[in-house]
Amino acid sequence: MPANFEKQSYWRERFASETSFEWLASSAAFMDVLAPYLQHLANSARILHLGSGTSDLHIHLRQHGFLDVTNIDYEPLALERGQHLERNQFGDVRTKYFVGDATRLELEERYHVAIDKSTADAIACGVDDAVVSMAKGVRRCLEDNGFWVCLSYSPSRFENEHVKRIFEIEVISKVPTSKTRPTDPDIFHYCYLLRPKRQTQQSSR
Ligand SMILES: C[S@@+](CC[C@H](N)C(=O)[O-])C[C@H]1O[C@@H](n2cnc3c(N)ncnc32)[C@H](O)[C@@H]1O
Repeated sequence: MPANFEKQSYWRERFASETSFEWLASSAAFMDVLAPYLQHLANSARILHLGSGTSDLHIHLRQHGFLDVTNIDYEPLALERGQHLERNQFGDVRTKYFVGDATRLELEERYHVAIDKSTADAIACGVDDAVVSMAKGVRRCLEDNGFWVCLSYSPSRFENEHVKRIFEIEVISKVPTSKTRPTDPDIFHYCYLLRPKRQTQQSSR
C-alpha cells in the first residue's frame, strides 16, 4: 500500500466520490470466515467494526441478527456512506456510527468482538508503533473473553512483541486471492484471531 493510506485526507478525498467498496474480500466472503466465531454469540453481542469505510460489513452483521454494532472511522464521510447503505437496505439506521481514531480508542462500552477488514493495514502505513497503539486500544475496549478478527494482506501484521504480549494471535484462515493467469503466484490474505491475554492487561494500558 502506498504510504498515504494512513492519512485521513486520503480517505476524505476518496470517499467524496466512492460510495461503496470492499477491501481484500467481499463482506459475504469475510462473514463465511467469521461464522464459526460469531455463531456462539447472542444477537445482543456488542460488536466494534473498526475502519468501516464504505464497506457493507455492518449490513451483513445486521442481516445475521447483530444490531449492537458500532462502526468507527476517523473520516466522517465514511460514516455517512455507511448510514446511507444501511438505510437503503433496511429503511432505517439501527447500528451505531462513531467518528474516532482507531489508534487512540477510548470508548465507554466494552465489546465482545472487534472486527477489522484491512484497517490495521492502513494504520500500519503510519508511524512504526501505530499498530501497537491500535492493539492497545482494542484491548482496552474488549471484554476479557472477547476477541478481535482482522483480515489483512500481510503475513506479518502482528509480529510486534508489544502486540504479542497483549494478545494470543492465531491465523484462522489463509484466503487465496484470485489469479488473472494460471501461472500467477499464490497470494493469500490472512485472517487473524486475537484473544486478550489476561496476565498482560497492565501492559495494555
Ligand atoms: C483499507 S480501508 C478498509 C475499509 C473497510 N474496512 C473495507 O473493508 O472496505 C481502511 C479504512 O480505515 C479507515 N482508517 C484508517 N486509519 C484510521 C484510523 N486511525 N482510525 C479510524 N479509521 C481509520 C479509513 O478511513 C478507511 O475507511
